[in-house]
Amino acid sequence: MGKSTPKKQKSLRARILGAVALVLVAAIALTLGINIILNRSFSVSFYEVRSDKVSNNIRVVELADLHNSEYGKDNIKLVDKIKALKPDLIFYAGDMMNYENDDYSVLFTLSDALYKTAPIYACFGNNELDQYLFRDKTFKKQMITHHIEVLSNEAKKIQVGNTTIELIAVTEGVDQYDNPKNNAKKFVESLEPTNNCRICLTHYPELFLQKLADKDIDIAFTGHAHGGHIRLPKIGSLYSNGEGFLPTMTEGVVETEGGTQVVISRGLGNHNPIPRINNQPELVVTDICWY
Ligand SMILES: [Fe+2]
Repeated sequence: MGKSTPKKQKSLRARILGAVALVLVAAIALTLGINIILNRSFSVSFYEVRSDKVSNNIRVVELADLHNSEYGKDNIKLVDKIKALKPDLIFYAGDMMNYENDDYSVLFTLSDALYKTAPIYACFGNNELDQYLFRDKTFKKQMITHHIEVLSNEAKKIQVGNTTIELIAVTEGVDQYDNPKNNAKKFVESLEPTNNCRICLTHYPELFLQKLADKDIDIAFTGHAHGGHIRLPKIGSLYSNGEGFLPTMTEGVVETEGGTQVVISRGLGNHNPIPRINNQPELVVTDICWY
């Protein structure tokens, strides 16, 4: 048998490497393709949280990080699903639109279709806040005109059946929370103890790892993390804007050391160069149970 020459060995190695590269490219293309199709629809997640401060069950449907996405014309698939769920309250946990776009029709058409189903309450996400502070001072007023009650570092008592809820909204994230120019810290520190169920709407789940970890808040509804963008089996999510790599607050219900049950939406859209992989857009339904 003749020995293979270095030239032959080199070409064999090049062919193996070429085949491996081809398989990798095909696998990536297939993964992206499957996820592009998957991300055109949304899943519905159901959670139950308990509170001895409510006297009747309360169903909250939470939308977050829509980023102007549409599911059917005028978001008809989203609207039909939410109506069928018969919520008591609809919460928008921020980033329902994109700051660089002055056309708010996706958000407003959706809200016009939903407000008769249940009252809509919202906090600002980074996109809404940017729009309102730096680009369009009329934006908040327009939201109100389209039946979205926006709270920003303020509280409001709302009645659902026999239960009085103290709904609060915290506007700033971790970076800006302590900034004296904003009211977030001042507002949270001004909250008095209450026997009412205190529910917090804030875009930023990571606030509950530090700034809000031990505060007198019963339940919170959040978004922002986009489910950690890429979710891998056993590892979980890879990255979120608020926490960086291997974040812990990207979906589900997480209880803080102070006992707050933090509901985290994976969001309904994207506005980020990192695609959503193994992370289908999500509508979150939370039943707050009295028993
Ligand atoms: Fe977002």
